[in-house]
Amino acid sequence: MNVLLIRADETKAWRSALRRHLPEADVYVWGEDDVDKADIDYACVWKPEPGLLATFPNLKGIYNLGAGVDALLQDETLPRDVPLVRLVDPMLSSGMVEYVVHGVLHFHRDMHFYAGQQKAKNWTQHLNANTQKRGVGILGLGELGQDCAHALLMLGFENIAGWSRTEKELPGIQSFAGEDGLNQFLQHSEILVNLLPATKATHRLLNRDTLSKLPKGAFVINAGRGTTVNDDDLIETLNNGQVAAAMLDVFNTEPLPQDHPYWSMNNLILTPHIASLTTPMTAAEIITKGLRDLEDGNTPDNLVDIEQGY
Ligand code: GLV
Repeated sequence: MNVLLIRADETKAWRSALRRHLPEADVYVWGEDDVDKADIDYACVWKPEPGLLATFPNLKGIYNLGAGVDALLQDETLPRDVPLVRLVDPMLSSGMVEYVVHGVLHFHRDMHFYAGQQKAKNWTQHLNANTQKRGVGILGLGELGQDCAHALLMLGFENIAGWSRTEKELPGIQSFAGEDGLNQFLQHSEILVNLLPATKATHRLLNRDTLSKLPKGAFVINAGRGTTVNDDDLIETLNNGQVAAAMLDVFNTEPLPQDHPYWSMNNLILTPHIASLTTPMTAAEIITKGLRDLEDGNTPDNLVDIEQGY
């Protein structure tokens, strides 16, 4: 099989990881090797130039080298009849768990206050909130959301709720779904974690109306996608205290523009989309299984439902 890697960075590491795990394949790198487009069976991609994938006439599968396929689905020319698989990698999940647990503990243990106090040489102790009762809400209960919920449960957070498109049965987690469920879920969420994918249904889901349903002084962690947030509304709620502070890893425009108001807000922690990064070493093994399944005519794990957007 002929596999083409299309991504802008770390092509050397990806090429060698794919070669090691897929010895039966010829691996080509877009932009580095001479490629006859008609020979390519599978494309492993991260944010390819829009229009490019449509120019390969014999593609049998597209493997997205990340969890979110939103960038691909924005490409109107994407060949919709070619199976599209997204990466679900335990390493991606563990990176996300670390990020989310860090953020939840940061806000839960008042570190946002202490950072300000340190600057003012202010020695004031705040009573710790009750971990068992702290209302944590996770928007999006897929693999990543469930792993984060389990890690928080292990730390003693017993008041965790999750919201997803369809209700999930998960021990120890209150599951909400649909619009009615969303209101109840928001009222519960003193610390709100967004892990939703970017789809039509999640676009600007966090806006003035929904943010105002959170308990006053709530915290927001966004490690899903920037498009879920209405930035002006989040800024307004951060300025009026409805949202006390937020930690954001993903943005409507990335890199975050230099003149964006987020940069200079004291009650924001910003990170450059690093919550969970794909590493070639672990990912290549998973991708190999998916490509072999496609080649053998089996349905691979994590085949994308194009209509749903994930
Ligand atoms: C990263 O954001 C991913 O979708 O894997």
